[in-house]
Order: sequence, then structure tokens, then C-alpha cells
Amino acid sequence: MRLTDEERIMRDGAEGEAVAAAMDLLIRYGEALGAERLVDTRNVAGTMTQPSPAKAKLEREGGWARAYAVINLDCDREIEIPRMKVPTCQLQHGFSEDAAGLTAYPATSIELQGSAENYFSERGVNILATCTPYQVGNLPVRNEHVAWMESSAVVYANSVLGARTNCEGSASTGAAGLTGKIPYWGNHVPENRLATHVVRADVAVDNFQEWGMFGYFVGETVEEARPAVIGSLAQPDLADLKHFGAATATSGGVELFHMPGVTPEAPTIEAAFGGLHIPEPVAYGPRERQWVYDTLNAQGTSTDVDFVLLGCPHASLDQVARIAQLLEGRRLHADTELWVMTPRALRTMADRNGYTRIITQAGGHVLTDSCPAMSKAAPPGTRVFATDSAKQAHYLPAILGIEAWFGTLDECIDAAVTGRWRGGLRP
Ligand code: F3S
Repeated sequence: MRLTDEERIMRDGAEGEAVAAAMDLLIRYGEALGAERLVDTRNVAGTMTQPSPAKAKLEREGGWARAYAVINLDCDREIEIPRMKVPTCQLQHGFSEDAAGLTAYPATSIELQGSAENYFSERGVNILATCTPYQVGNLPVRNEHVAWMESSAVVYANSVLGARTNCEGSASTGAAGLTGKIPYWGNHVPENRLATHVVRADVAVDNFQEWGMFGYFVGETVEEARPAVIGSLAQPDLADLKHFGAATATSGGVELFHMPGVTPEAPTIEAAFGGLHIPEPVAYGPRERQWVYDTLNAQGTSTDVDFVLLGCPHASLDQVARIAQLLEGRRLHADTELWVMTPRALRTMADRNGYTRIITQAGGHVLTDSCPAMSKAAPPGTRVFATDSAKQAHYLPAILGIEAWFGTLDECIDAAVTGRWRGGLRP
């Protein structure tokens, strides 16, 4: 790998042992990927504070410096961790105090995370604590090289914002925060960003549920490739796009899609392919749509719903407002729990606007920082849950061994209020 003088100096220890370890890690990582150089980044989204048994053990042995050295820098020496060199944020992590008592999530994990928040925020890590950093202050611009983790955030950054990132890990983001560098390969390279497939919607994709189902089909179809999507697509909003992207990254491993007119570098389908050959489209019609719906509902047997989960990826303020509107003056069924996941900063706004009060008065909870899939925790005794998120419907049955129903927001609120699943695919 070709290093600049600045990078060589960092590798050789002029900026301290932690920066040298970080450069060493990035060089090994880049060489394994065949990258010829590093690229500057001023935007890192990773995970430093997520509690785990391994992290707890390392923290007991040598504090957070030891945990960071081993987990985020792949370094076994005793080193001091300096302030992050470039703006760095914490993505979603475990549940915090606001979930205490609602689930069997351990109090020791909440405590450990609080201690990590103190340590890392003193070192310049912004504790956004969400899978949607772009909703709460971390909004990269077009062509900006960033180093992000979290598949739903990565696909949004690449495809909606036009930023450039691969799906990084806790080690590469840990090293990027201390150096402002990341290997230049994959989605950082313009020619690697061109579309490879076309998927055409022959049925209307015109609401939140339809965007999630279409995304699920696209991911299943192209796997880890780069689809261009065309056809009967209504104008999506932020919530539609985060649902669509998260679904493509769930059934497949999509990190970048091209939606002509929405994706900044794809004003047209021709631009998405860089003027190269455009392949025949794969069609998404009524049969494919039904297949997606049936797949996402394949784990649902009992119509008695114990738990309704909304906000995956973390809900926008508009989504929280809509939930409050639907719940105003109503009361949840005695045996059904409702959790709404949103970023902590948006929760503050939901509090100010009275949305949290309405949802709480109905018997629901507005929670932050995490989600049941991330923290592997749901209300005690949950056997059947309902959600409007294709990603949660896909993952949660496997993670928690529970049944799932996938439907619209209205159907989910109906389930929360009646305790029954009465959803079905609209014709
Ligand atoms: Fe976010 Fe959890 Fe969904 S981290 S994308 S709410 S699985």
C-alpha cells in the first residue's frame, strides 16, 4: 500500500501508540482487501459503547483503554486512547435507563454502557446512539468519504445522500476515528458504484409498507450487487427510503442502490450505469409482491399479539407524530405492549410536542438507543409480535424465537389496541 508522509509518520508512532496501532490495523485491513491507498475521512460512525461480555471482561482487566485497544484496534498492548482525530459518532448500542424494568435486559449492561458513554464522549465520540445518524446531526454530503457501520445507515448514506462508504466494522471505524483514514476500495471508487442490475416495479410502490416489501424483493434478487430501481415508484420520503434501504440490506447485502431522480449520482437510468450496457429488468409484479408478504408473515400463526414494535430503522419525528395521532384517546389492550424506537434527540422533540405523552397515556413506550434485535430483548413473555418493519419481521423471530406479523402502521396500531392481528395484503 502506498502511504503518504503523514500516514507514515502516524504509523511510526509520532502521534502516539494508539494512532500507530490504528494505522497498522488500517494498513493490514487495506492490504487484505487489495486497496492501494487510504483516503481521508472526516466522518466516522462506529460502535465503542455497545456492551458485551467480552468488553466487560476487558474493562475489568484494564479499563476502557484496554477494551478499545483489543476490540477496536486489534492491539494487545497497554495504550492510552487519545481524543478522536475526526468527528466520530456512536451508532445504536444497548438499551439505556428508559428501558429499565420493561424487559429482562440486564441492569449491569445499562451501567457498563453508561460508563463507556462517559469515557468515549470525553474522547470526542458523539453519542448519537441510533442506527439513523443522518436524522440527528450526522448528514454527510455528496461524494464525501465516510466510514460507517450499520447496514441500513450505509445503504442510506451511499444511495440517498451520495456519500461514499463501505459497510465497515468496529475495528476499522475504531482505527478511522483516531486517524481520519480508511482504505480506498469498494464503494469509495467511482467505477465500483455503477449499477449492475435493473429491478422494475410493475405494481404501485406508494406507501411505507410497499417500499419495505419492494426493498425486500430487490435485496433477495440482487444479493450484494447494485440495483437500479425503476417502474411504478411514487415519490418516497425519508421514512420510505430508510425502510426500503434497510429491507434491501436485510434480504440481500445491498450497500448502494440507484433510484433515478433520487440517488444524487443517478439523475437517469443511463447515468446509473455510467453509459454502459443496461441489462434487462427483473420484474416485481403481483406474484412477487405476494411472495414477499407471505415470506415476511411466514412466522405468524397465533393472532394473539403480545407486543407491537415500531421504529426500525429508528422512527423519524413524523413517524412518531403519526403514531401519536393514531393512539390519541385510545388505550392499548391489557395484554399487549407497544414500543416505539426513535433516536434520543428526536425523543426530546417528541416530548416537547406532546407525542410521547399521548403514546405513554395509551400505554405504550417511546424508547431510544437500541431495539429488540440489537439488545436481544422484548417484553417478558412475548410469543407473538407485530411490526411495520420488514427488517424486524425478518430478524426478530430468529433472534428471540417469537412469531411475527408484518403489516401497515394502521394494522400494527389496531393490533396494539385490540390484542389481535387482523392484517392482510391490500389488493
Ligand atoms: Fe435500527 Fe435495530 Fe432496525 S438497530 S435498523 S432499529 S434492527
